[in-house]
Amino acid sequence: CVLVLDFGSQYTQLIARRIREMGVYSLSLPGDASRDRIQGSNPAVIILSGGPESVETPGSPSLFDGFFDYTRANGVTVLGICYGMQLIVKLLGGSVKRATEQEYGRTEMAPCASSVLYGDCENVAKPQVVWMSHGDECVRLPDGFSVVARSEQGTIVAIENADARIYGLQYHPEVTHSERGMETFRRFILEIAGAKADWNMEDVMEEQIREVRRVVGTEQHAICALSGGVDSAVAATLIHKALGDRLHCVFVDNGLLRYQERERVMATFERDMHLPVTCIDASEQFLSKLKGVTDPEKKRKIIGGEFIAVFETFALTMEKTLGKRPRFLVQGTLYPDVIESCPPPGSGKKHSHTIKSHHNVGGLPKDMKFKLIEPLKWLFKDEVRALGALLQVPRSFLKRHPFPGPGLAVRVLGDVTAGDALQILREVDEIFINCIKEAGLYDEIWQAFAVFLPIKSVGVQGDQRTHSHVVALRAITSHDGMTADWYQFTPQFLASVSAKVCNGVRGVNRVVYDITSKPPATVEWE
Ligand code: XMP
Repeated sequence: CVLVLDFGSQYTQLIARRIREMGVYSLSLPGDASRDRIQGSNPAVIILSGGPESVETPGSPSLFDGFFDYTRANGVTVLGICYGMQLIVKLLGGSVKRATEQEYGRTEMAPCASSVLYGDCENVAKPQVVWMSHGDECVRLPDGFSVVARSEQGTIVAIENADARIYGLQYHPEVTHSERGMETFRRFILEIAGAKADWNMEDVMEEQIREVRRVVGTEQHAICALSGGVDSAVAATLIHKALGDRLHCVFVDNGLLRYQERERVMATFERDMHLPVTCIDASEQFLSKLKGVTDPEKKRKIIGGEFIAVFETFALTMEKTLGKRPRFLVQGTLYPDVIESCPPPGSGKKHSHTIKSHHNVGGLPKDMKFKLIEPLKWLFKDEVRALGALLQVPRSFLKRHPFPGPGLAVRVLGDVTAGDALQILREVDEIFINCIKEAGLYDEIWQAFAVFLPIKSVGVQGDQRTHSHVVALRAITSHDGMTADWYQFTPQFLASVSAKVCNGVRGVNRVVYDITSKPPATVEWE
C-alpha cells in the first residue's frame, strides 16, 4: 500500500483519497508512528505530509530514528510534501531556514533539469502554476540530492535522489489548484514508485467477507445495529453475505429519532432490503438516563452506554432462542472516524480526535462484552456508497444524509428532555427537509438538519406578543464531514422555510440559518 505519514496537514486525507482514486490502496498513520506500526502495513511507498510546524522548532514532529535505513533496506520509495520535504532535507544533513519571502497560494514554477520526477525537461519545462503554503525553505540539500524545479522567486520546489528512491515537493500536488500536480503525482505513484493500481470495490468486498468469516468462524453469531443510515445498511448487507442467518439485525428506537423515522425505516428494511430486523423500543430507557444532562460529551457517553446495554439484553434474548449468545457486534465505523493525525507539539494531546467522542468509536464502554466487527473502517463515505451500490443496497439508503449516532440529542442543545423540545425539533426538521427535497436540492447537500436552541425570543404573531423558541437550520456541503462549507440557499428559499416553520410549528417564532463552515465550527452544534 501507499502509506501517508501525517504531520498535521489539512491535506493528509486528500492525499490518501487521491491515491485511492488511482486504484492504489492508501492508508495514513501519525507522522511519528513507530517502526513496528509502519512495518505492519508493509508499505511500498511512504508519503510524508505537510504540516503547520517548522522542522527547526524544537520538539516538532519527526520520523522514528533510523527511518531512512528502514526505507532503503526495504526498497520503499519516499515522497516528502512541504513539511515532509523539509524533514527529509533536515534529517539527511541539508539545511532549512525561515523563508525571506513566504509563499502562500498560487505560485509559478518550472522544472529546471531533466529528472526522474518530471521526465525529460524539454517536454515539461513550461512554467506551471502550483499551490504553495510554506514559511520555511530548503537552502542546502543533503548529499546525493539535486534540485529539479524552482519557483519564480528561485525557491527550491522539487528535489530528488533517484538512487535512494527519495523525492520532495515543496508545493502540494494533491490540490486541484496545482495545474499539473495530479500528473506529477500519478507519475510518482504509478511509474516511479511502481505501485500497483489493483485496488477496487469488488476486492474490498471479497476481502472483507473472507475476513469476517475468518474472525467469526463457522459457529458464532453477530448482532448488527441498523440506524437507518447508509453506513450501517451497507455494513449489515456485507456481513449478511458473509454470515447469512447468523447475523441478527436490530433497530433501536432511542427516543432521539427524527419525525416518523422508526416507521419509515422499518418499512424500508422489510420492503427493499429483505433483512429480518427486530425493532426495540428503548426510548424511555434512554430519555430517563438523559434527563437533566446538559454536557454534550456526557450525553454521548450515556447514549453509547445505553446502546450497549440494549444490545446485551438483546443478546441474552437471542441466547434463549439460539442456545448461544452472539459474541460479535457489527458497527458501520468509517475511516474518518478512526483516522489519527499528528497533534501539534506542546498541545499535550496524543494522537486522537478528541473534539467529539463519536459514540460508535469513542463513547463505547470499556467493559462491553462484544467483540467489534467494523468492515468499513478503511473506507471513506463515498467509497461506502460505491460498495453499497455493488451490494445492491437500495438507493434510498445510499443517498440519505448522514445522521449522528446520538441522534437528536446533539441537536437539542442542553437537556434533551426539557419541555417539548424533541417534538418541536422533529416538526421543524421535517419541514426543512421536505422543502429541500421539493426544491430538488437534497442530493447536492451533504447534510441538512434543524437545531433546537435552549433560548426564547420575543415575537409578534397574530397581533399578539409571543415569547417562544428559536430554531436554527444547518445545511452543508462536504466530502467526508471532516471539513464542510455552509450551503448557500437563495434568500427566497430561506424565507419560505422560515414562514412554513413559524406558521406550522407551535411554539417557534424565530428561525436562524447557520452560516459557519467547519472549521471553525463543527457540523453538529454539540
Ligand atoms: P461533527 O459535528 O463532528 O460531525 O463535525 C461530522 C459528521 O459526524 C456526524 N456526527 C456523529 N456521528 N456519532 C456519530 O455516529 C456522533 O457522536 C457524531 N457526532 C457527529 C455528524 O452528523 C456529521 O455527519
